[in-house]
Amino acid sequence: MKFYLFAIILLITACLSTASAADNDTREQVKFPEMMQQHMLSNMRDHLVVINEILIYLTTDEMDKAADIAENRLGMSAMSLHGAGRQAQFMPDGMKNIGSGMHRAASRFARKAEEGDPASAYKALQEVTAACVACHAAYRVN
Ligand code: HEC
Repeated sequence: MKFYLFAIILLITACLSTASAADNDTREQVKFPEMMQQHMLSNMRDHLVVINEILIYLTTDEMDKAADIAENRLGMSAMSLHGAGRQAQFMPDGMKNIGSGMHRAASRFARKAEEGDPASAYKALQEVTAACVACHAAYRVN
């Protein structure tokens, strides 16, 4: 009997917290000029493609290719390609910091992968995905 009561309370708590997470969008809206927003979202879709390709190269042990794509499409070298400087002027400081942290972590991943240091490479890659998660939790454009 006690167990059922416990299970029911758990279930109610879970339902309530799911509902409030969905209803209550606390992300800050950031406004970009329309063209820039389209460009930014298309970069975002490319970020996900890159993460997937990095994981593919890691499973096939092609560290150089993983390093290359990380540096050139997500790392410090990708910043001018993505117009990060122009976009940054519309971003709140917190968003800018997470963004530059992501680019730095991607370059760190590239360096560690090239040096053949998988433990540090994985740590840096996780710092990249942590930046994706942190920014998505805090900001929206629509
Ligand atoms: C500095 C902030 C920031 C970082 C870092 C970031 N994103 Fe985003 N991303 C956003 C925002 C803001 C949106 C728009 C979300 C919204 O309005 O609902 C977005 C949207 C997206 C979308 C949806 C694109 C579309 O067409 O609607 C994808 C996919 C995405 N991001 C992937 C990633 C991945 C993968 C990473 C990490 C490698 C990443 N993002 C890092 C801010 C960021």
